[in-house]
Amino acid sequence: MRRKVTVVGAGNVGATTAHRLADKQLGDVVLIDILEGVPQGKGLDLLESGPIEGYDVRVKGTNDYADTANSDVVVMTAGFPRKPGMSRDDLLKANYDVVKTAIEKVSQSSPEAILIVVTNPLDAMAQAAYRVSGFSKNRVIGMAGVLDTARYRTFIAEALDVSVQNVQGFVLGGHGDTMVPVPRYTTVAGIPVTELLPKDKLDAIIKRTAGGGAEIVALLKTGSAYYAPSAAAVEMVEAIFNDRKKILPCAAYLEGEYGISGLFVGVPVKLGARGIEQIIEIKLTPEEQTALKKSADAVKELVGVIGV
Ligand code: APR
Repeated sequence: MRRKVTVVGAGNVGATTAHRLADKQLGDVVLIDILEGVPQGKGLDLLESGPIEGYDVRVKGTNDYADTANSDVVVMTAGFPRKPGMSRDDLLKANYDVVKTAIEKVSQSSPEAILIVVTNPLDAMAQAAYRVSGFSKNRVIGMAGVLDTARYRTFIAEALDVSVQNVQGFVLGGHGDTMVPVPRYTTVAGIPVTELLPKDKLDAIIKRTAGGGAEIVALLKTGSAYYAPSAAAVEMVEAIFNDRKKILPCAAYLEGEYGISGLFVGVPVKLGARGIEQIIEIKLTPEEQTALKKSADAVKELVGVIGV
């Protein structure tokens, strides 16, 4: 039996996610949006790419949650993107309403699904999805760390003129200006990056990573990033469907890990068929721990505003 993925939101992130899922033949894809015609049109267009690209997966666009029934994974991308000058936090209330409405419906039609939340502000929206769905914490995952880490890896590879595949590392904390890239745990073909790049260069890369979303917004002017965000969400779907037990930085509901409780924050997790199968706790220096706490406090403030 083919697996089924619902992508909520047929905008830039949602449609690109559906495109990547179909190309990788990860399962049948349902694209749902409130706009009439847009998900149907994009879904049909993607379906008609099948004979050329060589995939048999079905892609269907809809406005009806009945079509999403019994999805294995739901990728939540509906919401408003950031406009220039807008912080992720400005989006908070508007996107909370969107997430609440959509997650209520999709969690009823797919009660066994694993939810991957992409809508910003990410950590707060993941927490909203967790509360609204009532799903167990292993089945609600926020996509942020994979994207932030991809940006971080890109900049390091560029600075060293090496393959991006050689660069391993992760970014902790909330998906915002307070995110915490950790150079101490960043390696290039096994070599600590701190041996290869001077501190000032690394600091500049860390700063650029934290502003990575805003950099794209400033260039696009009419919206926010979608190629790398969709690639990140699809890597998570692939890890779940193929039960890879892949360690990826994701927003997870913490209950005491890293000294944080009752909050979604980005940490390394093991992703497999059951969703988050383990939260990996690593030792942090007092400075790293302080930076993580500051980042978690920023998430806590947002979560407090919407009361989730
Ligand atoms: N249910 C379903 N779809 C909705 C709803 C809703 N309640 N409200 C809005 N949408 C749809 C819009 O109609 C639109 O098609 O969500 C889509 C959003 O698409 P874009 O405006 O292109 O935004 P996008 O760039 O895809 O970003 C979506 O992902 O990365 C985050 O910050 C980004 O929060 C933003 C989200």
